[in-house]
Amino acid sequence: MNILLVGSGGREHALAWKIAQSPLLSRLVMAPGNPGMEALGETRPVKVTEVQALVALAQEITADLVVIGPESAVDAGLADALAAAGIPCFGPSRAAGQLESSKAFTKAFCARHGLPTGAYVVCDEAAAAKAALDKFSPPYVVKADGLAAGKGVVIAQTKADAEAAIDDALGGRFGAAGARVVIEEFLDGEIGSLFALCDGTTSMVFGHAQDHKRAYDGEQGPNTGGMGTYAPAPLFTDDLVERVRKELAEPAFAAIAAEGHPYRGVLFVEFMATADGPKLVEFNVRFGDPECQVLMLRLESDLVPYLMACAKGELDRLPAPVWREESAVCVVLAAQGYPDAPVTGAAITGAEAELGADVAVFHAGTARDEAGVLRAAGGRVLNVCARGEDLAQARARAYEAVSHIDLPGGFHRTDIGWRALAR
Ligand code: GLY
Repeated sequence: MNILLVGSGGREHALAWKIAQSPLLSRLVMAPGNPGMEALGETRPVKVTEVQALVALAQEITADLVVIGPESAVDAGLADALAAAGIPCFGPSRAAGQLESSKAFTKAFCARHGLPTGAYVVCDEAAAAKAALDKFSPPYVVKADGLAAGKGVVIAQTKADAEAAIDDALGGRFGAAGARVVIEEFLDGEIGSLFALCDGTTSMVFGHAQDHKRAYDGEQGPNTGGMGTYAPAPLFTDDLVERVRKELAEPAFAAIAAEGHPYRGVLFVEFMATADGPKLVEFNVRFGDPECQVLMLRLESDLVPYLMACAKGELDRLPAPVWREESAVCVVLAAQGYPDAPVTGAAITGAEAELGADVAVFHAGTARDEAGVLRAAGGRVLNVCARGEDLAQARARAYEAVSHIDLPGGFHRTDIGWRALAR
């Protein structure tokens, strides 16, 4: 089977690492890929939003399947263009992708279909947004409506900070993505990330994990795309998984299909486990990053049949995936200044050494210079992941591996998995 994987981050490196282990694979091409992915197949310098060039590349390699990693490719309409060309694709249409590309759309979608989520107000201008804060109590949640690479969410402890976040977004910090803001009720509880596959009709739960969204230890500092993950997390009792499936994932798949946009791909349900049950924080229309990294380390089953079944409407033929008993932990090494102003260019050492049989280092934001030196090229630079018999062992292995890697000026959290270990 020839597969084209679209993307260049740690999530896509983890997907490539797992796809490359499939006995079904003949050829893996990654566009654009990253320096760490080069060892797993061929990389081609096509950007994730260059839709026609990606369709042409899929045709050139006679791809049996295209796997979309990032939401920007979904929002560019890649799945729609591939469908028009008759090429099977894992990833939803642009219309179904509104579940991530517009927070206002998703809130209205939840209201239309009775999905549990927090109260909200959508505003296009600052005075109305600031007035809307009076409807809520602190902490205030201010979100840019559109795609902002994980940086469009501010949880402000004071009204002054919330007003500054509103001015920031509506003032153009996130470009068109911030031309509208959503003010939301803060949901109290523990946050979880659950993944569900859908082939347009049939759906199934495909793993879960817990992420640390704040930049610094002790859940301090600005919100980020995610500083580390672990799985399995004790939050996910069978009962909670079942409730999230029945109350959020399945109704969302049914409703988006009823609105004319059957969902093919993975839906990332970020929810708050509140005293009143799970409530939606947000949907994402792709695997979580860095949740995907720990999912791939724990997935025993071959990933490729699941991706293909979603693309072809054959998920009903597959059993539930098998997960390894072991735990997995991912620690994100971030560049100095992430998330606000990451400093790129630092020379990285130690990331490409053999760091242990149960360790995998995925590249999230790296580039190789002309002299072959690996350098930081993004905010989140490396994902250092490890498996272990339990969370404590996985975590110890991950941090041991981190200690062998040097990212000058960079930082990482030292408390990934604290909630589970504190139980
Ligand atoms: N880790 C959260 C996200 O992928 O958006």
